[in-house]
Order: sequence, then C-alpha cells, then structure tokens
Amino acid sequence: MNHHFGEFGDVWKHLPLAEILQHNPPRHYWETHAGSASYPLTQTPARRHGVLNFLKHAPADPDLQHSVYLQALRDMPGIYPGSPLLATRALGSRSTYIFCDIDPESAASLRAEVSHLDARIIENDGVSAIAGEFQRAQLAPSDVLVLIDPFLPNERFTPGSQTPLELAASLAAGGYRIIFWYAYFTLAERGWARDAIAGLAPGVDLWCGDTIMPISFTYPDRSGLFGCGIVLANATLAEQNTCRRLGQALERIAATDVVEGNNPSQVTFQIIP
Ligand SMILES: C[S@@+](CC[C@H](N)C(=O)[O-])C[C@H]1O[C@@H](n2cnc3c(N)ncnc32)[C@H](O)[C@@H]1O
Repeated sequence: MNHHFGEFGDVWKHLPLAEILQHNPPRHYWETHAGSASYPLTQTPARRHGVLNFLKHAPADPDLQHSVYLQALRDMPGIYPGSPLLATRALGSRSTYIFCDIDPESAASLRAEVSHLDARIIENDGVSAIAGEFQRAQLAPSDVLVLIDPFLPNERFTPGSQTPLELAASLAAGGYRIIFWYAYFTLAERGWARDAIAGLAPGVDLWCGDTIMPISFTYPDRSGLFGCGIVLANATLAEQNTCRRLGQALERIAATDVVEGNNPSQVTFQIIP
C-alpha cells in the first residue's frame, strides 16, 4: 500500500515508467515493492502538488500532452493507477510479470487485477524474491525490466538477504534494465542513489534524473526540502532523452507552484552526471 500515491514523487516515477514501457516494452516486467494496483483518486494537499497539478497543466504542455501517463489518468477518471496497473496497461499480454508486496491488501488488489495475465504475485519480501528469480532465470538480461521502489533502500529484510540498493546494483551489473526510485531530505544527498549504485556496480551505464521541491508538497506541515529521483540502469539513449524531456517538462508545469520563504521555493529538475 502506497500512502503517498499521486504525490509529486509518484508523478516523477510513473510518468517516465509509463513512457519507457510503452516505447520499449520488456518481455518480462518485475517489481520488488509493487503496492496496490490502483487507488481512489481523492484530493489531498499533497496530491494537489502532484497528480492534480499534472492533470491541470500537462494538457497544455508540448512534452506532456501526449504522454502515456496523462492518457492513463484520463482513461480512468477518479482512479489513480499504481505502477502495476500502468505496467499492465502498457504491456498487456505480450509480457510476463512478477509483482511482490508484503502487504496482504496490496497483494489481493494485484491478484484481482492480473488474473487474465501471465503474472505471479509474491506476498513476501520482494528483494529476496527477485534476487532468487535473477539467480534462477535463464533470460536475456535486456528482456527484463525491474522497478525497485522501496520505502527503505537499505533495509535487509533477513540477515542473509540483500538490501534494495544491493539488489539494484547486482541486477544492473547483470545487464538487466532497472528503474530505482529514491528520496531524501537534504541538498547534500542530491542524486545519492546514483552514486550508491555506481559504487556497488562500477562501469554500469546509469542515468539519474532528480527533482527537489518544498517538503510541504509531500508533508504539508513541514518546511525545508524534499528530493526524489529515478536511476535507470542499462537504458537506451532514447529512453534517457525521453526522461530528460519529461523531467524538464515537469519542472516547467510546476513553475507557478511556489512556496515563498522556503528553500527551495519550487521544483527544480536536474540530471545527475
Ligand atoms: C512506495 S510503495 C510502492 C508503490 C508502487 N511501486 C507504485 O509506484 O505505485 C512501497 C510498497 O512496498 C511494500 N513493501 C515494504 N517492504 C517490502 C518488502 N520487503 N518487500 C515487498 N514489498 C514491501 C509496501 O507494502 C508498499 O506497498
């Protein structure tokens, strides 16, 4: 269950995810921390800075008006699609799926959503489950895309298991396509996940698109900074360019959403070299 669904952090995950899956569909799509298939799109202050601001401004933006994410939102009024639903919409029956979540409610919603597809729902630690699949599977690495979207990037679920970050590094080093989502709260941490994955998997081709914004966009009572980003491993140049264009467009449509006196006062997007 993703309590932060539809907030800015979700927009800067689901917008690039939907675009990548539509334009470069993997044969196998796996998620370590899947959440629920979808959520009722209720209004909250945080969602007003996220998906609701996106719905308001994206239709007039040249780089967002034809985005796969906007189309998905328009096709499902009143519903916020989680990453699993965005994925199954984009890929349909041409891909196989593994969705992991330890939350029974999320797992139940996923089972209901994917019953017509070649999909496995694993109601257990997603890091260990996907690490096991990675070891056993005899798949061409470039045929697999894994979304790693943890609340706790350094959590070791059992003493012998990997952390989400370690898993990301081993999959990336094995040639798998990955999307790793991360968050942070101080400017010094900007782009931290890119450095962490690069340190564990030297030489792997990584791309990192990072956003900072007022923390009140996610936690309305607080002041200061919230940052989040995505690290792509083994992405094509076209995917990297698409994500750059989408990140810049998100910054553009958020330009009038300003918190005077806060540092930062608005959204900025940056590619972490
Ligand atoms: C950020 S939410 C996922 C959001 C989803 N990927 C999306 O984009 O719509 C994180 C999810 O991870 C689940 N979770 C937490 N620890 C987990 C673990 N060790 N293995 C699998 N799922 C876990 C939570 O129940 C929650 O549903």
